[in-house]
Amino acid sequence: MCGIVGVTGKDSAVSILLNGLEKLEYRGYDSAGIYVNDQNGQDYLVKEKGRIDDLRKEVGANVQGSTGIGHTRWATHGEPSVANAHPQVSADGRFYLVHNGVIENFQDLKNDYLSDVEFTSQTDTEVIVQLVDRFVTKEGLDTLAAFRKTLSLLGHSSYGFLLMDKEAPDTLYVAKNKSPLLIGVGDGFNVVCSDSLAMLDQTKDYLELHDGEIVVVKPDEIKITDQQGNAVERDTFHVDIDAAQADKGTYPFYMLKEIDEQPNVMRKLSQVYLNDDGQPVINAELLDALKAADRLYIVAAGTSYHAGLVGARLFESLANVPTEVHVSSEFAYNQPLLSKKPFFIFLTQSGETADSREVLLNVNEQNFPSLTITNVPNSTLSREATYTLLLHAGPEIAVASTKAYTAQIALQAILAKALGEADDQPAAKDFDVKQQLALVANGMQALVDEKATFDKLAKADLLKTPNAFYIGRGLDYAVSLETALKLKEISYVQAEGFASGELKHGTIALIEKDTPVIGIITQQNTAGLTRSNLQEVEARGAKTITIVTDALAKPDDTIILPTVDERMTALLSVVPGQLLAYYTSLNKGLDVDKPRNLAKSVTVE
Ligand code: M6R
Repeated sequence: MCGIVGVTGKDSAVSILLNGLEKLEYRGYDSAGIYVNDQNGQDYLVKEKGRIDDLRKEVGANVQGSTGIGHTRWATHGEPSVANAHPQVSADGRFYLVHNGVIENFQDLKNDYLSDVEFTSQTDTEVIVQLVDRFVTKEGLDTLAAFRKTLSLLGHSSYGFLLMDKEAPDTLYVAKNKSPLLIGVGDGFNVVCSDSLAMLDQTKDYLELHDGEIVVVKPDEIKITDQQGNAVERDTFHVDIDAAQADKGTYPFYMLKEIDEQPNVMRKLSQVYLNDDGQPVINAELLDALKAADRLYIVAAGTSYHAGLVGARLFESLANVPTEVHVSSEFAYNQPLLSKKPFFIFLTQSGETADSREVLLNVNEQNFPSLTITNVPNSTLSREATYTLLLHAGPEIAVASTKAYTAQIALQAILAKALGEADDQPAAKDFDVKQQLALVANGMQALVDEKATFDKLAKADLLKTPNAFYIGRGLDYAVSLETALKLKEISYVQAEGFASGELKHGTIALIEKDTPVIGIITQQNTAGLTRSNLQEVEARGAKTITIVTDALAKPDDTIILPTVDERMTALLSVVPGQLLAYYTSLNKGLDVDKPRNLAKSVTVE
């Protein structure tokens, strides 16, 4: 989604903005722009469709300044174009604005207040900058009052705004509702960003902003006020990420680096959440709240939802607690009948997914307890849930999520073990999660060491195909959904994950000569059935690939997974799917890390 950066009080503002935007590239965007002011009456607005590299070329050497704002745009209103790129500017050229979010009532505002203004873009954002200008020039308000008045008209819209006024060239006006925005605190300068990764080379100390707050940022001053205009005091928090962790080093793409990091993520989770005896170390208050629940509701989107499907099996089998899994965008507006004592678990790599946050807001209104499992400390969902557990996977930059998925499953296994133990469940007592995670880590290593095999398979079977199917039952079905998502999002192959028993009920009609069907077989009780389903598609011409645990393997199987507990196989069976997707995308010459139309952090509903 859109990325925002701003800086005031640094002569190198232009390079800070461009470097910051480059760090946000991974979030997905289609155009970008900056506005800078040199405090001596000279200012510059540069916008470009396409990559930051193109913007950098357009900026050239002459554009300079000490205060500025920048933006990467992921189009919502209006096609990707220079006119629609941000910063958007008021008709008289005085105000400049960047925005992440959606202004739901922009058309009404346009009709009510701005019918005489000639708009130069199709964006909802331009309405906001024209409104500020209108309230300053026609009603005589100062910029802050005009900004405040504009915000009061936006209803439930989502926004992170960064506004500049030519007549106050060292000042950034900042506001947020639902969209993420942080203020970075420097010495004699300050920065603003939608993700601290963008500004880690400038500062590691940040102030979080709450919905509805407005902030005035100058080189030596940060003034936060609430919706009513009351001053707000807030402590900074320190971001403990080494900028190098977010670097891809010698890897051609972040996705491959992140796939390779998975064994270490398993070991890290073991270190953080298990003691030397293999017992989970989980906050006692959180465990009590979980124990008090009669049903768990896991809510998530995309890959995190798929990790939730695996998690539900772990909670039910180890802790004996009924668990439902829901897609957040559905749950938000179609809440099912809840049990008497629900407990909500939000799975979200970014901690910023707008669909999941909408559910959390509803859950909080109903006073239900909640836990966010996320990779990003201080993210919105982490702050707003009752409890947080961190994934400790390190920054995940590639749009296609890999290590966050396996970290989410591993952490749910630890939590399910802790809950089961706390409730004297025999299945939990017999489950050695520490040993399992060690086996998983070694198994993952063995798989990622076989890259050439996956490269070859991708070239032979997936490169030319318009479609492909992943099939399995139970946990293997859950992994089929995730591996199909990986393939479709980065290689643009129309890939679907199916419960293998469902094929005969309709989908088998799509099988033609050479259609790739990838069968995942890790569960003893359904192995024979999935094998029969594979034979049925082979009989109709499909080309089959099998991903099988060694305990269930037969001589002709394609990929053999090392042995782990049957409840943990998803952590291994997903890795071949990740690598097949990676090599299909790579061999097609696509941009693996930044697939078309997708954003890393989906901050609008
Ligand atoms: O940050 P989240 O885990 O909440 O994100 C949810 C989805 O947007 C995300 O998993 C998406 O499906 C990924 N692109 C999948 O690779």
